[in-house]
Order: sequence, then structure tokens, then C-alpha cells
Amino acid sequence: MNAAIRAVVRSALAQGVAVTGIRRGYQGLIEGDLNDLTSRSVSNVIQRGGTMLMSSRCPEMYERAGRRKAAESLRQVGIDGLVTIGGNGTIKGALALWKEERVRVVHVPSTIDNDLPGTDITIGFDTALNTAVAAIDKLRDTAASHDRIFLVEVMGRNNGHIAVDAAIAGGAEAVFIPEAHKEMPILMKRIRNWWDSGKHSLIIVVAEGEEQGGALTLAKRLAKLAGSQVRTCILGHMQRGGTPTARDRVLASSYGTRAMDAMMAGKTGTMVAIQCGELVLVPLSAGAGPAKPADQSKFRLVDRLA
Ligand code: F6P
Repeated sequence: MNAAIRAVVRSALAQGVAVTGIRRGYQGLIEGDLNDLTSRSVSNVIQRGGTMLMSSRCPEMYERAGRRKAAESLRQVGIDGLVTIGGNGTIKGALALWKEERVRVVHVPSTIDNDLPGTDITIGFDTALNTAVAAIDKLRDTAASHDRIFLVEVMGRNNGHIAVDAAIAGGAEAVFIPEAHKEMPILMKRIRNWWDSGKHSLIIVVAEGEEQGGALTLAKRLAKLAGSQVRTCILGHMQRGGTPTARDRVLASSYGTRAMDAMMAGKTGTMVAIQCGELVLVPLSAGAGPAKPADQSKFRLVDRLA
């Protein structure tokens, strides 16, 4: 996110446009927590995880009155255009501000879950994925040396984008994702067969789904099935921090700059996106729809290569 903020600030200033940073997202906007940003404000941030502007959940944005306050805040200080950076909640707020209050918005898709529709990739996904794969590589040493089953729980509330890609890249034997919960019995049977045939070192990646820690319940079921101890590693918020990958920094820099160009060209009510390798603009509504599910063919690939 910091690389995206830097790109927005520097490309705006280069075009003679002043930039105000809104701290703590919509909550900060409603409360008027605003600061002017200069080129120096975004020095030395591209390599830092998290967001220099901070973030928060804002229940008021679910209410029309809250959204009115947010728009009023912008008008009071003479802000003509708003660049939002975030995932599902942020874009829904942006769409409402655009439709109801005619706020000129361009959205930058950013969530480690990579589940925003309308774009192939969101900021943060690559960094989280690499963290998950590095953890799997480390766990593999114990799994192999001790002949053990390991469950590795990765983030992904509604979907398994991180889980599927981490399973492929980490050479995992199986992956459990919310989109394919009906396949659970098949996967359990496969694990049982492996165990019976003497394959005892298994890495299974689990998307957290509704609740963090769900893998612990699954571990109990697997332990009964295999009659062996199962170890569980919940990666949790480790995946949301740390040094962003080069790929994420490049993506965020491109997104931020394109967002500012769109703003200057009056192409608002839009989201920057990557589609089939191209940097494009799509309507905000395209990114605010139902979450994009993980790719089925990638899900199948895990089985084929196990
Ligand atoms: O939306 C990104 C995400 O990382 C989900 O994968 C995860 O379930 C959730 O955020 C965790 O949110 P919180 O930080 O509020 O626990």
C-alpha cells in the first residue's frame, strides 16, 4: 500500500496537483483526520509493509448518514478527487460515495486475499503468498524428517487464492478451500490412502475460511483418520506484514500512477486493474461485486502434482 500511496502522491505533484492524506481510512475521513502530503512525506516508504496512512474498520460507512459525513468532510477542505486503496469493504464504500454523493473516486485494488472481481491481481497478494511458501518450505523439513502430517493454515476469509497458489508453489499434497468444501470427503479419503500406503510426510494447506484456527478442528479429524499425530501451523497475520516483494512494489507503483492519470483525465467512478496482463480501468461496480473465487484449474493442479 505504501508504494501505491507514494505513486499517487508523486504523480499528482508532478502534474501540479496537491495531495491530502486521509489517516485511518473512512473513519479518519469522517473525523477530518487529514494531512497534506509532500514528495518527502513518501520518501523511504516503498520497502515498508502495512500502510503509512493506517487503516481501520468504519461501521458508520454502512449508514447513509455516515457516507454523507464523509463526503461533507471532503467538500469542507476542497478535495476534488478521492483515491481509495483497499479490498471489498473499501471499494463498496467508494462505490456508494460515487453513486450517492457524486464524489470523484478512483479505486486501487489492495488485499492479500486477491478476491476482488474485475482484476486478476491485487496489491499484497504476492507478498502474502511468498510468506506462506517460505513457511511451507521450513515446515517441510520437519514433515519429511519426522514422517508427519502438517496442516498449514493461510489467510483467506471467503476463498482460497493464497491457499491454492501456496499449495502449488510449496509442493503440498492437498489443499482445502471454502470454494471446494464439498470435496472434503474425497480429499480425506486420499489422505487416508496415502497414509495406508506408507506415505507419512504430508503438507496440507488450509484456507482459514470463516474463522481463524479452523485448521485445528480439521487436524483432530485427520488424526483420527490416520491414527497419527497431526501438527498444525496457523500463519495468521504474519502474512499481512513484512517487506513487500518487488512484484508487489511494481504493481502498486503502476496502479497508483494509473489511478492519478485516470483522475486527471476525468475517468472517475473507476478501478485500476490488471486483466490478461494489461493495466486497464474498469467501472467501480465491476470491483464491488461478489468475491472472485480461486481458480478451479489451479485447485485441480495440486491433486495432479501431489
Ligand atoms: O481481508 C484480508 C484478511 O487478511 C482475511 O484473509 C482475514 O480473514 C482477515 O483479513 C483478518 O482480518 P482481521 O485483521 O480483522 O483479523
